[in-house]
Amino acid sequence: MGKSVSGFSKFSKSKKIDWIVEHYFAANEQVKSVIKKYWNSDDKLQQLHDEFIENTITNYYLPLGIAPNFLINDKIYAIPMAIEESSVVAAASKAAKFWYDRGGFKAEVISTTKIGQVHFMYHGDVDKLNSFFLKVKKKLFEDTKAITKNMILRGGGILDIVLKDKRQELDNYFQLHATFETLDAMGANFINSCLEQFAKTFTEEAKKYDDFSAEEKDIQIVMSILSNYVPDCLVRAEVSCNVEDLNENDALSGEEFARKFIQAVEIAKVEPYRAVTHNKGIMNGIDSVVLATGNDFRAVEAGVHAYASRHGRYSSLTDASLENGVFKFWLEIPLALGTVGGLTRLHPMVKIALELLKHPTAKDLMQIIAVAGLAQNFAALRSLITTGIQQGHMKMHLMNILNQFNANAAEKETLINHFKSNAVTHNAVIEALENLRQ
Ligand code: HMG
Repeated sequence: MGKSVSGFSKFSKSKKIDWIVEHYFAANEQVKSVIKKYWNSDDKLQQLHDEFIENTITNYYLPLGIAPNFLINDKIYAIPMAIEESSVVAAASKAAKFWYDRGGFKAEVISTTKIGQVHFMYHGDVDKLNSFFLKVKKKLFEDTKAITKNMILRGGGILDIVLKDKRQELDNYFQLHATFETLDAMGANFINSCLEQFAKTFTEEAKKYDDFSAEEKDIQIVMSILSNYVPDCLVRAEVSCNVEDLNENDALSGEEFARKFIQAVEIAKVEPYRAVTHNKGIMNGIDSVVLATGNDFRAVEAGVHAYASRHGRYSSLTDASLENGVFKFWLEIPLALGTVGGLTRLHPMVKIALELLKHPTAKDLMQIIAVAGLAQNFAALRSLITTGIQQGHMKMHLMNILNQFNANAAEKETLINHFKSNAVTHNAVIEALENLRQ
């Protein structure tokens, strides 16, 4: 066991790097130069990034790719995607192109309500607690006026607060369950500030409430926090076309393609092992746009997967049908996003991503991101039920393998040509590279 370090957060950036390199890299100066190579030469820009988080030593790059040709509600978009995995951007682009020629994607926001809760313990008479809550409810709204004023002016704010008795799940456990409309803000800070004020008002008023006994006056707040589960902040994206228009080549007729595609979706609906991978493919599209637009992908991930389990078993987020000769494929997911606040005005690439998307409102962005998820799932399923995933994925991954073995420009050109007509596998690439080098 090594010695712990005290005061690391107070070290300068250089000293932090020295410390890391000394303790974890046997004082290898090479490591220092790699870390520093990733610093931006523009000091101001570097400082901005340093200050996004704590204990920053350098930057961690992800590529930002563009998937063009997305026709969404009759508007055309080029979608920015920040992701490390090859073939995702290509798959999205290919699906966008496919649906562009078939009327594009339709998307609609179903609801935009967000949720926050004050979790507390109460020991006493529940009727008295209910009466107290009804009496104090108006004051809960009043005491948050300083926080909610601007949001209300913009048309949002606190929608409602209800008292929930949770004692069936946990002894003495109750909640103030509040709902919010936060418009173009993701709303985490706004919601948490409101909740902390509710908790303060609630406990202070309880102490003054004459009907309560001494024990009942002692309401114990456990925590006040928003929920990243937002089943009432929902968006739906859909594509549809005549079944015969699904046929792009002679391998499968439109009808056969639709049947196999629907079977693949049905399997993901009933089989959790498949559903997780199926939804992972959807999240390839969703996370990459969430990241590119400076949103919180952990919140989105947690909320989306909870939604996928809402009927008690983890299941597919997409669905598909074939009725009266029309193939339909759709996705419905909860997404709490912001296009103001957070990193949106700070991170230069986020600003560019939002400008590229034509300065979307949060509702617009919900639709774009849901579409990116649907497109990704379409591309993956299409490959899975026809060529298999490896053909296209490995074709895109070829460059990574060549880079791993330090192929030079001429070697890359030769081997890219070679693998246009040969299957890409890790071993096949190594062998071809060795042959070339001999
Ligand atoms: P292809 O038919 O070989 O591509 O597909 P193509 O060379 O004929 O080009 C057709 C179009 O694809 C292009 O049109 C682009 O839109 C796009 P163009 O630009 O020429 O007018 N495209 C590209 N875009 C950018 N850069 C490229 C590029 N190549 C093609 N280099 C493709 C190749 C990979 C697109 C196809 O095989 C595919 O969609 N595969 C699915 C890949 C996928 O889903 N990847 C995600 C990672 S795998 C995973 O994590 C999820 C999974 O497990 C989920 C699940 O199980 O459900 C699969």
